[in-house]
Amino acid sequence: MAAQLIDGKKVAADIRAKLKSEIDELKSKGISPGLAVVLVGENPASKKYVSSKEKTCDEIGIKSFSHKLPESITQKELIDLIDDLNNDENVHGILVQLPLPKYLNEKEIMNRIAPEKDVDGFGPDALGKLVLDEPGFVACTPHGAIKMLDAYNIDPKGKHAVVVGRSVIVGKPLALLLLRKHATVTIAHSRTPDLKETCLGADILCVAVGKAKMITGDMVKEGAAVIDIGINVTPEGKIVGDVDFEPAKERAGYITPVPGGAGPMTIAMLMYNTVLAAKMAAGMKVEV
Ligand code: GUN
Repeated sequence: MAAQLIDGKKVAADIRAKLKSEIDELKSKGISPGLAVVLVGENPASKKYVSSKEKTCDEIGIKSFSHKLPESITQKELIDLIDDLNNDENVHGILVQLPLPKYLNEKEIMNRIAPEKDVDGFGPDALGKLVLDEPGFVACTPHGAIKMLDAYNIDPKGKHAVVVGRSVIVGKPLALLLLRKHATVTIAHSRTPDLKETCLGADILCVAVGKAKMITGDMVKEGAAVIDIGINVTPEGKIVGDVDFEPAKERAGYITPVPGGAGPMTIAMLMYNTVLAAKMAAGMKVEV
């Protein structure tokens, strides 16, 4: 039987609607959440992501502070900008769109973002808190994947979850979040010798590699929940995930489409983190 589709677009729209009413309430208390978005250069994909983020901010009432900078900007100027944003009380979250041009020291710039404004959840403070099971900003894409499972009542407790991909911004935090939800977690990667066997053991299969259709239908266990976090552009210009969707959907119990799965969730969780940052800055009690 074909899998049930996990509609990331719909789950993200529900999260945005909830945030919008929360933001209205915050504004009535004089708190106006603000997100600074920093883009360096002309990378077309980055420009597209940044404009979607700004559009979503507008839609739900978050003030966006846009900093679109030419490739002539120096490391020092960028660091000075981050310092200014760190000190600006109207800015609750800072997002530096990645990848940065190669001549810049990306690590130094990302680590300069104040931990209380790191709404991407990429910095050592956020990642350390995730490991320690302490409240903090959770990276948006893995958080979005968990929220999709929640929305479809897929409980990782006692299940075998396999995360394919070990990036710092998706694979590792996602594995920790699944562990937090009491799954037995395997992280697979390019050096995993028996990837097919490993994937076939997954009740929940999450893939974040960035390789079109690398997970074929015969790697999916019957009835598994498949979360495809890849966004790849084919030579024909089509956007596809890391999972070969058509055959996989014939075996899976649940599956996310690409586009319309993990993508919209990432932006929704960025908005969530920005609202969280604004509440924390105002000294409000938050549940994370
Ligand atoms: N580039 C692609 N995805 C992301 C993201 O989630 N955050 C940032 N800062 N850059 C990205």
